[in-house]
Amino acid sequence: MDRGLHQQPRKTRLTGRSGALRALTLSLCLSTLAMPVFSQAILEGERFHPASASHGMVATSHTLATEVALKVLENGGNAVDAAVTAGFALAVTQPRSGNIGGGGFMLISKGDGSEPEAIDYREKAPTGATETMYQDESGEVVKNRSRFTHLAAGVPGTVAGLAMALDRHGTLPLKQALAPAIKLAKDGFIVPQRFSEGLEQARERLQRWPATQATFYKEDGSAWQAGERFRQPELAATLQRIADEGVKGFYQGETAQLIVEEMERHGGLITQQDLEGYQPVVRAPVHGSYRGYDIFSMSPPSSGGTHIVQILNILEGYPISELGHNSADTIHYMAEAMKLAYADRSEYLGDTDYVDVPLKGLTSKLYAEELRQDIKPDKARPAGEIGPGQPPGYESPETTHFSVVDKWGNAVSNTYTINFSYGSGITVQGAGFLLNNEMDDFSAKPGVPNAYGLIGGEANKVEPGKRMLSSMSPTIVRKDDRNFLVTGSPGGSRIITTTLQVIMNVIDHDMNIQTAVSAPRIHHQWLPDEIRIEQGISPDTIRLLENRGHKVVTNSAMGAIQSIMIGEDGTLYGGADPRRSTSSAMGY
Ligand code: DON
Repeated sequence: MDRGLHQQPRKTRLTGRSGALRALTLSLCLSTLAMPVFSQAILEGERFHPASASHGMVATSHTLATEVALKVLENGGNAVDAAVTAGFALAVTQPRSGNIGGGGFMLISKGDGSEPEAIDYREKAPTGATETMYQDESGEVVKNRSRFTHLAAGVPGTVAGLAMALDRHGTLPLKQALAPAIKLAKDGFIVPQRFSEGLEQARERLQRWPATQATFYKEDGSAWQAGERFRQPELAATLQRIADEGVKGFYQGETAQLIVEEMERHGGLITQQDLEGYQPVVRAPVHGSYRGYDIFSMSPPSSGGTHIVQILNILEGYPISELGHNSADTIHYMAEAMKLAYADRSEYLGDTDYVDVPLKGLTSKLYAEELRQDIKPDKARPAGEIGPGQPPGYESPETTHFSVVDKWGNAVSNTYTINFSYGSGITVQGAGFLLNNEMDDFSAKPGVPNAYGLIGGEANKVEPGKRMLSSMSPTIVRKDDRNFLVTGSPGGSRIITTTLQVIMNVIDHDMNIQTAVSAPRIHHQWLPDEIRIEQGISPDTIRLLENRGHKVVTNSAMGAIQSIMIGEDGTLYGGADPRRSTSSAMGY
């Protein structure tokens, strides 16, 4: 257990919504239906084709990161070497989410069938953080204090997490994994359309901070345009210090000092001790099963794995394959199951170093069966019947996921973030990187939603040194101890449901990985009480859902899920999400 900071974490015992839940143990009484026969190879005539290769595959949200990671595989590196290289490269080429100022989770499942491992490098609340730090004297939450101020930043975990992954499972020295990122920062790269559009959209928020303006905009304040070369000399120097000194080159010395000075100038809380005390944690992933497949996904402090397994457990009781992809019946059952899971999330989930989470109960088949009893086939249950809350709005989000498989069958699934696009918007002066605003993932006050409309309570209150609850769900599905599907997504609260649907698209609907990634998605998170759908769900289906009492709202694209599937003959299939114009899957 991580007790990295000087503060001793306290364990709070939570009382359950149903006493039965806590008493439940993992049960193997499956209501498994007939298993599908797989044919997800590339089929001529299909509308979406995955990349295919036989030795290695990388899928990321930025082509330049995909390329440098693929090169590592081609040169004999393993999946962890390639993933860490991609992680640092994305910190340069995709500053809206790729980062060294944030945190995330990496799931590693070796080709030898040994137990998968999760590296938790989620940010932590600084030692000076308090439960009410985002409230005024009368207890009201102060808008944006947890999002756009120096108090929004958690202690960054990315550098320590990527270094730990490399140390435990990689073959490359850290210096070598950083080399492509340093080159991209120093020499610059040609910016794609999406890069300049992002900077245009966030201009007002970012240009409040002189260091952000100087780092990411031209001298006249205009954004870098598609086709122009963008260089980041300060970031190159920061990365070089890590290459020269290891993690100490970030958590101590000049970079640490620049972070602390930035905090001191603006009333932030991160101290030298917070930085020096930061430790990533090796955790056991959540393990569940779905129709004969093993599902491994992220354990707390992410809620992702728990609720993916919980929703799959509920859905296993329905003949989803027969009901059909995105039919009204399937969407109805998915939405009902999602509501129940997100209601539980608001009550039970938090950092297990601080609170007890009834993980076994939440992910048990027996509990799913109990929940299923209350789902009606022809009628939506109003969210109010399940739990209380206020319908909130959404903020523009950005996180990034990448998946890698190497020639030994080792798989890495990594999601990391600075929370919003460009995080807090605050660049550490002199160090050239953005700070996260992950503190907004804590519950600023019980019942008050975060930026993704997620409600939290006691389990996810702010405490010094605690990790804020996440939805990030790096996931690896195995069949008979062999890695089969490597997947994960950005999307805030929608990460869980996005990842869930790609798993279902492959297992229930027998889609090839590119079709599974591209297919229109739906989302329900209990509150607000509505099904969000992407374009591409038929008006007939929407009407059928409305007739059952669902509110259906068309949403913009949800998630950006970069996935790899391994065929029975070992062929690797990559599916990059077309929802991000810079996504790519490449193999060799
Ligand atoms: O950890 C979480 O759940 C959020 N901070 C993730 C934010 C996110 O995915 C934004 N991206 N699209």
